[in-house]
Amino acid sequence: MDKSRLISKALEAKKLAYAPYSNFPVGAALMTSSGKIFTGCNVELASYGGTICAERTAIVKAISEGARDIKAVCCVADTEDFCTPCGICRQFIYEFGSDIEVIMVNNKGEFRSASISELLPHAFGPQNLIKHS
Ligand code: THU
Repeated sequence: MDKSRLISKALEAKKLAYAPYSNFPVGAALMTSSGKIFTGCNVELASYGGTICAERTAIVKAISEGARDIKAVCCVADTEDFCTPCGICRQFIYEFGSDIEVIMVNNKGEFRSASISELLPHAFGPQNLIKHS
C-alpha cells in the first residue's frame, strides 16, 4: 500500500477543513482493497455537537459510494503529536474491519501505524451482535 500517496491525499483534504470554532483542521484519506481513495475533512457546526471528524467524513463518503472494503485510514493535523482518531472515529473504523491499518501523521509528515484493534482493544463490534442473534 502506498502510504505516502495516502498521506498526501489527507494533507490535501486538510486544506478543505471547515473548523472555524476549534481552528484545528484535520484531513483524512482511506484506501479500499481495490486501491480507491476517499478523503475527508472535519466539518464543525455552531451547535458544536453536530461536528463530524475528518475520518468519519471519509468513511461515510466511501460507504455511501458502495466501497466497504477499507484497508487503511490516514489522519493528519497541524500538530507535533501524531494525529490519533477520537473514540467515536475508532468505533466507526472498527465497524468496517478489525484489522484496518490506521496511519497517524504529524506536522512534519512523519507517521506511525497501528491496527484499529490495537487502538480500540476489547472492542464491541459487529461480531458481538452476530453471536447474539
Ligand atoms: N477532529 C478530527 O477531525 N479528527 C480527529 O482525529 C481529532 C479531532 C476534529 C473534530 C473537531 O472539529 C476538531 O478536530 C477539534 O476537536
